[in-house]
Amino acid sequence: MKLPGFAEIKEVGPRDGLQNEPVKINTEDKIEWIHMLGKTGLSYIEVTSFVHPKWIPQLSDALEVLRELKKEKDITYAALVPNMRGLERALGAGIDEVSVFMSASETHNKRNINKTIAETFPVLNEVVKEAVLEKKRVRGYVSTVIACPYEGKISPDQVLMVTERLLDMGVSEISLGDTIGVGVPTQVEALLEQLLKRYPAELFAMHFHDTRGTALANIVKSLEMGITKFDSSLGGLGGCPYAKGASGNVATEDLLYLLTEMGIETGINMEPLLEAAFYIENKLGRKLHTRQLDIARNEKEAVKNGKSCSI
Ligand code: HMG
Ligand code: MG
Repeated sequence: MKLPGFAEIKEVGPRDGLQNEPVKINTEDKIEWIHMLGKTGLSYIEVTSFVHPKWIPQLSDALEVLRELKKEKDITYAALVPNMRGLERALGAGIDEVSVFMSASETHNKRNINKTIAETFPVLNEVVKEAVLEKKRVRGYVSTVIACPYEGKISPDQVLMVTERLLDMGVSEISLGDTIGVGVPTQVEALLEQLLKRYPAELFAMHFHDTRGTALANIVKSLEMGITKFDSSLGGLGGCPYAKGASGNVATEDLLYLLTEMGIETGINMEPLLEAAFYIENKLGRKLHTRQLDIARNEKEAVKNGKSCSI
């Protein structure tokens, strides 16, 4: 298997994770959590989104979070923006990079941002042009790249069409989202084969939700195909409130374990990462069950009881 020496993990927990939690985390606690994430070696954190607060009340404090954050100089702090109103708010708060987003599926696009795909292009075009003028890098999410909760399977051709339009606008990276976590490696391969005929692998990041436990297998397939950027969420938090059945992103700590053990460098340290996961678990008031967190929890318990269960 031909593998890269380095892969970049892009942490989306403070945005994709918290947007789908029933509990709204206090602004100060979010900021503290982002500070903890900033001490783990991560180079990219998506901290919030500047969408309509009625649509995503959990992130209605986007402005305060971004303004009050003590930024680390080696970290890119990004946020989601759906339109010019969102961009103005994000720029006003000092964002480093903006992410526009849309879906390859007509129905999910409409449910998520209240527009058809055709109506979305001019809105995003204006946002991208303005952001680039302001010297900001723009990332473009394409959602439901494997399947849509309303329409079923989505063809790679449809994903290619949306990708082309976003790249033509001036987006510098496309994040391909398996929003509802249904994809398997053969489908990821078919999708990437189509896209990589036209574009280099460096343009893409993969964004897998882990609803059916296939995210890590899909990441291994993507690595084999030359992709080196992956979105993940600490504690496996997350989901899209406008995609029925969408559960959390692949967990950052489980992805880190996989990459490290495969000899792929990330620059991220497991211990402070787990500490940050236990911190947000405590604030959410519910246990987060990822592989690495369960192991760490059991080890702590064993040490407390005078036993050791390290493997
Ligand atoms: P709309 O109601 O169609 O907006 O919502 P509008 O343009 O008709 O404006 C209506 C009102 O909203 C106006 O106020 C605007 O000013 C205001 P009024 O004049 O009536 O007082 N407004 C805003 N206020 C604050 N910030 C804004 C904003 N825009 C308009 N940015 C809109 C359209 C896109 C705003 C809405 O549908 C929305 O906020 N949707 C967000 C949905 C969302 O955040 N979904 C989750 C993120 S996507 C995701 O999770 C997938 C991803 O992770 C990848 C994957 O997993 O596949 C990225
Ligand atoms: Mg997502």
